[in-house]
Amino acid sequence: MEARDFELLIGQNIIDRYRSDDNRATVFELLGKEWDLLDDVWPPSYSPGGELFADHIPFDTMGSFLEMGCGTGIMCVLAALAGTERVLGLDLNPAAVRNTELNAARHGVADRVSARHSDLYSAVRPGERFDGIYWNPPFLDAPEDKVDSSIWHETMFDPAYAKLRRFVREGRELLNPGGAIYLWFGEAFGNPTLVHDLAEENDCTLHVLKKIQMSEIPDALADAFPGELIAGDEGPASWHLHLLELRPR
Ligand SMILES: C[S@@+](CC[C@H](N)C(=O)[O-])C[C@H]1O[C@@H](n2cnc3c(N)ncnc32)[C@H](O)[C@@H]1O
Repeated sequence: MEARDFELLIGQNIIDRYRSDDNRATVFELLGKEWDLLDDVWPPSYSPGGELFADHIPFDTMGSFLEMGCGTGIMCVLAALAGTERVLGLDLNPAAVRNTELNAARHGVADRVSARHSDLYSAVRPGERFDGIYWNPPFLDAPEDKVDSSIWHETMFDPAYAKLRRFVREGRELLNPGGAIYLWFGEAFGNPTLVHDLAEENDCTLHVLKKIQMSEIPDALADAFPGELIAGDEGPASWHLHLLELRPR
């Protein structure tokens, strides 16, 4: 199977599992806190990501932080609770904007966290700059002609990693001096040098802040991977998740 068709299969499996779960909680617990979860928002309750390792991100040194694709807004809230004064969440999904506002209010940081509906950086205002920019992006590079503009496909797929490339290139220009880009990302099946290439193309140094093996990935996510493919050398058994820092040179 072509790598991109494999990524389509994986992504569709994950989407189908999440959407068919009648017991999907509207409030879930993660990191010892409760979080609201609206319909059609990416659910960290099934598949927690970079927020598990938020303590690797130096929020206490940041005056401002932008979370791209904020979803439930967990990373926005963690940044504000860690002391970041001005936090902005952006998401293409209007439900994620509401969800981020709900969780900011739930955790008493609504005065420091705002959220906007945005296609990548389209809602960033002229002159706004940030000390840190983070994304847990759509992970999978499915073929363009198999992907639609539904919010679940936008959440899961990024054909040819066009969004990810723009996220880094345009985000670099929105950093304050000394700022950095943070990324929660899986090593791409068909393109294992992607993040290294992105760092070089954007003249950044790349630091791996945390690396997770496939065997440590939560069951709900691992279950979405077809068993026969996990067993193969080229399958996700050799796959990793990373919390990465890209720091402009
Ligand atoms: C994998 S989810 C991560 C959600 C959340 N940050 C988390 O870690 O739980 C990816 C998020 O990116 C958002 N997204 C996808 N394409 C986007 C775009 N072009 N502009 C802004 N957000 C986008 C999706 O709506 C989704 O909320």
